[in-house]
Amino acid sequence: MLVFDVKITVIEALKPLSARSFTNSGLTIDISEADLIYTETLMQRGKEIYEGKEIVILGGGDGALLYELLKENPKFVWMLEIDELVMRACNKYLKSICGDLHSNYGCKGPGMIPSATENKIGIETAFLLSPRKIIVEDCMLTVNQFIKEGKKVDFIFGDLTDIPISDSACGELWEFMITILQSAFKILKPTGKFMTHGNGATCPESLELYEQELMKLKPPVHFTKTKAFVPSFLEDWIFYQITFKTTDNGDA
Ligand SMILES: C[S@@+](CC[C@H](N)C(=O)[O-])C[C@H]1O[C@@H](n2cnc3c(N)ncnc32)[C@H](O)[C@@H]1O
Repeated sequence: MLVFDVKITVIEALKPLSARSFTNSGLTIDISEADLIYTETLMQRGKEIYEGKEIVILGGGDGALLYELLKENPKFVWMLEIDELVMRACNKYLKSICGDLHSNYGCKGPGMIPSATENKIGIETAFLLSPRKIIVEDCMLTVNQFIKEGKKVDFIFGDLTDIPISDSACGELWEFMITILQSAFKILKPTGKFMTHGNGATCPESLELYEQELMKLKPPVHFTKTKAFVPSFLEDWIFYQITFKTTDNGDA
């Protein structure tokens, strides 16, 4: 069954290696739909107000986060995802979690035009008019462009790869993560928030290393953590909410 295989491939590409568990049963068909808790915990739904806010999603793969954020009437959302194949596949096979958002990716300029498919499935007008731009490339390119332009946003979501599991914060993956962190805070308003997922609660060493990196950031930041059980990960996952310690950072 081609569809089944593609879904598994897509989901496998999106979920952390440490927690994958697949069977040959139909379980995998619903696995991503069950993961709304991941998105809602990442975005702290009910605790944060996104209305009128400018938001950057680093990564975001399946589009679920973009889909849910757009329901909150933000001013603008940029989703910066490198993997075109994942987006195409999600757009085709996982519409229940990402709607038809990916069919318009690559659209340039503010105020995207809603697709005909969205109109057909009758998503409410406010949602259709929510402006967003999906840019398919390494997120650092747009982040660096924002830095160059002095552009700052209200929320940044780090929906990239998990915190690496290692003995020390060294190596390519850590370098990538630290670079992303340092750069992201340069495009965050002094009152803004960086929201990200970390790793499984069963990886305290890796979470501790990440927190040590957070404590090295300049200007200094403050963070809180939230834990949620993510069905397809089969474990409790840790999510971070990070802000500047003070809001008078000048040019952070
Ligand atoms: C663990 S997934 C999380 C995304 C989403 N929650 C999901 O389940 O699809 C990480 C995503 O980050 C994307 N990614 C990794 N490195 C990236 C980069 N440098 N720029 C943009 N996206 C990147 C991957 O393609 C992947 O879709």
